[in-house]
Amino acid sequence: MPRTCLVTGAASGIGHATAALLRQRGHTVIGADLHAGDIRADLATDEGRAALVARARELTGGRLDAVVCCAGVARFDPVTIRLNHFGAVATLDGLLPLLAAGTEPRAVVVGSIDSVHPTDPETVAAALAGDEAAAVAAARAAVDRGEGHLVYSSSKAALSRWVRRTAVTDAWAGAGVTLNAVAPGVVVTPLTRPLLDDPATRALVERAVPMPLHGHARPEQIAPLIAWLASPENALVTGQVVFADGGADAVLRGDGTW
Ligand code: NAI
Repeated sequence: MPRTCLVTGAASGIGHATAALLRQRGHTVIGADLHAGDIRADLATDEGRAALVARARELTGGRLDAVVCCAGVARFDPVTIRLNHFGAVATLDGLLPLLAAGTEPRAVVVGSIDSVHPTDPETVAAALAGDEAAAVAAARAAVDRGEGHLVYSSSKAALSRWVRRTAVTDAWAGAGVTLNAVAPGVVVTPLTRPLLDDPATRALVERAVPMPLHGHARPEQIAPLIAWLASPENALVTGQVVFADGGADAVLRGDGTW
């Protein structure tokens, strides 16, 4: 049964591979991205988020069967918390009424293995409190004291925890909408290529994210899991952070978490 799906970050990497797979399977995909696709919107801003929701409503007549949030950046800058956490949350909150009107509705966000790495607790707490100004201030403080790398892990930890809290609420589970995160290990895309091309940073990445199964991934290896979580076949999985990481989470966190 063809479905109508909206994918953010659809112009590149994991979002592009997911949009391509869904189209190949006969679904209608509305691609959203900063400068390309059916909807062009800056999801790091309130205006862009509002424009995305308004345009999605026009293009779909108010019904969506799946939303996949892939848009993300990994900069040592507060924009990373603005886009990765608040952009995804605003996309999902804004599109929930369209999903609720859809058929066997599903939502998926892209988290990260980095969410199990150290974070900045103030940035995470402010993000989970829904206070964007405070989260941006905390992220800026982390950057200023030389801990800019914590902004990305904080954005993905906050988003993963938001998924677990939100998925089980009346607004989501009560409306029959599943909500999950896929947390990749290292995937070779424009986001990681500069790090992987430099031997010194590549060695750091390999130490931080050990991937015993197959090594670094391709976006096409992440897309099928996202597509399954976004499909009606997924009847019961909700509130989960599913690691698609070649074993990195099992190496890093061992058997003390499951
Ligand atoms: P990518 O750089 O290939 O794609 C990201 C997309 O987001 C691009 O098309 C870009 O234009 C879009 N984007 C950037 N800023 C935007 C904005 N302000 N508004 C709207 N769209 C914007 O990166 P990749 O690797 O495909 O990343 C996709 C998601 O996967 C991100 O959330 C990233 O954090 C996550 N991820 C990536 C991993 C990797 O190793 N590549 C590992 C774990 C998570």
